[in-house]
Amino acid sequence: MSGTGSGTRRVSALTVYGVLRGRSYRPALEEAGYRALAPARQALASELALGALRWHQRHIKLLEQMMDRPRPPAKLGALLSVGLFQLARTRIPDHAAVSSCVSAAKALLRPAQARTVNAVLRRYLRERPRLEDAADQSLEGRYSHPGWLIRRLQAAWPGHWQSILRAGNRKPPMWLRVNPARTGRESYRAQATGSGPWRCILPDDLPGALRIDPPGAVGLIPGFGEGLVSIQDAGAQLAAPLLGVRPGMRVLDACAAPGGKTAHLLELCPQLGELVALDSDGDRLARLEANLARLGLSAAVRRGDALRPAQWFDGVAFDRILLDAPCSTTGVIRRHPDIKHLRRDEDIAPFASLQGRLLDALWPLLKPGGRLLYSVCSVLPDETDDVIRRFLGENRGLACEVRGCGGVSGGWALPLARHGYQLLPGRRCADGHFNALLEKPLQID
Ligand SMILES: C[S@@+](CC[C@H](N)C(=O)[O-])C[C@H]1O[C@@H](n2cnc3c(N)ncnc32)[C@H](O)[C@@H]1O
Repeated sequence: MSGTGSGTRRVSALTVYGVLRGRSYRPALEEAGYRALAPARQALASELALGALRWHQRHIKLLEQMMDRPRPPAKLGALLSVGLFQLARTRIPDHAAVSSCVSAAKALLRPAQARTVNAVLRRYLRERPRLEDAADQSLEGRYSHPGWLIRRLQAAWPGHWQSILRAGNRKPPMWLRVNPARTGRESYRAQATGSGPWRCILPDDLPGALRIDPPGAVGLIPGFGEGLVSIQDAGAQLAAPLLGVRPGMRVLDACAAPGGKTAHLLELCPQLGELVALDSDGDRLARLEANLARLGLSAAVRRGDALRPAQWFDGVAFDRILLDAPCSTTGVIRRHPDIKHLRRDEDIAPFASLQGRLLDALWPLLKPGGRLLYSVCSVLPDETDDVIRRFLGENRGLACEVRGCGGVSGGWALPLARHGYQLLPGRRCADGHFNALLEKPLQID
């Protein structure tokens, strides 16, 4: 196991490099050799990689001022981003930050590039206020998000785009959901408060939710392995209660893995008739099964394509359907800063098209009088309001929206969307989510 500072920076830089070349954060971290680090070093390597990914667009604006080339080669840029993050936003002493990056550069890069790392980081320390001021002059530099996303947010949210972008750069809080079959929220708070350096915050209007501050590592959360709690953001916890599940109902969770909302539905109503948990991804379904087993819950797990019900639907219609659709995930950027680098402007239209097709495919499976909840962790109207508006427009008399649904969303979401509820990231410490509840009329005129 490696316990050196340069080994840690090497892993961080290779992780950033992997993401910049199109890998998601987790596989990039694994491929960067994260497991070979000692446990304390693993935490630091991941902290530095996430920080560099969060601030990378700003770092590029700083580097443009200090280097001749418009953009440094990818591996050099990744290591410099890790170095700048340490100098600008951590308490690591400057000399340790620079020397660990220079040592990592000697292992990772050509000798001339290692000298560049030294020169650039030292120049940043000398000229920092001027360089930072200049980086503030462009929106990409100031908010450290890709230009296409900034422009979309400006157009969609004229009064909120800056706060959405600022929220996207913050380190996320840790939200838990207690499993009522195993513990109560107050008794869990008592147990957790005594067992770690954190306090627990319990929102009055979201039963079962509890925020741990400061966030802890999963392995340190009391009772996690025994199924007392799940890790789930408050925004995601708003969805399942909106469906109003009752004993005996047949429920479809159509994009279920890794099972956060499946488990929440089962916790809300242990006497459901049946919960079919469907997903097209076998690896993610394995995680769903492990999560349900940890919590002592069970569902009818099916692998299949929600767009092709003929493959898996047995013909018995559902009382409730949850469609937690694949989306741009632009509401959860603070948790997954790799999204800033992986998503492209041109991805949004295919997501919106897929979401519409999923709604069209699943609607016939709903009983008359039944309800479908459309849920996405996006803040882009193409994937939220527009999807619902199109669907309702094409299904006049065959589908209607349930307004004022559930009550609880009102305290969290602002009345911003024409349809459904849009929760913007950062509000009440939650991620960004959108929910719309649709009902199939009992009698179709
Ligand atoms: C937003 S995630 C679901 C998160 C999950 N509901 C939870 O709360 O943990 C979307 C899921 O949709 C699945 N998916 C994407 N396209 C699908 C399709 N055509 N049919 C079924 N599942 C699909 C993905 O594999 C992914 O697991």
